[in-house]
Amino acid sequence: MSSERIHSGLVSPEGRWWTDVPKQEKFWITLSFIWCLILFAMMPLWHIRGGQNVSGIRHKVDPTDYVNRVERFIQEYGTGEKQGGPWNIPVVAPPPGAHVYLLGRMWQWYPVLRLKKNTEYILHLSSADLNHGFSLYPLNINFQVIPGYDYALKVTPNQAGDFRIICNEFCGIGHHMMVGKIEVVE
Ligand code: CUA
Repeated sequence: MSSERIHSGLVSPEGRWWTDVPKQEKFWITLSFIWCLILFAMMPLWHIRGGQNVSGIRHKVDPTDYVNRVERFIQEYGTGEKQGGPWNIPVVAPPPGAHVYLLGRMWQWYPVLRLKKNTEYILHLSSADLNHGFSLYPLNINFQVIPGYDYALKVTPNQAGDFRIICNEFCGIGHHMMVGKIEVVE
């Protein structure tokens, strides 16, 4: 047998990794561990204290059912139509507290919503076809709009004016034309 040591479960390999951890290394391990804990704590803290988008309730929904629900919503509270790009888009003025349904589809936000300032609504977002991105301008509010999911948010508009909804998720040839509108009236 040669004098060379064979590494196995019984014979420790050469080196000194099993000896005491040097001070410097201990310091960095401790520091990174503390940093991990800080980041971990940030998750719940940020949720409560951060100025990020509100979190809503997501339910599964059949896209066809959602489209039908939007149509019913328009029948209930519709108040005419507006020219929106190549389409005529219905304008809907729901009463305070109402469930408001907004549909994203290639390539429109449907319908136009007319909401009252300082009034709470439950805003539902979903898509009829593929993934769209709800982006409210000039405010920086963004949500993913996903087919098959109804995303419900409690919203209270606190600023009157016209707001644009822009699609910020590439959804095909008409993506850049996918602009909708929310009107907030006093
Ligand atoms: Cu819808 Cu891009």
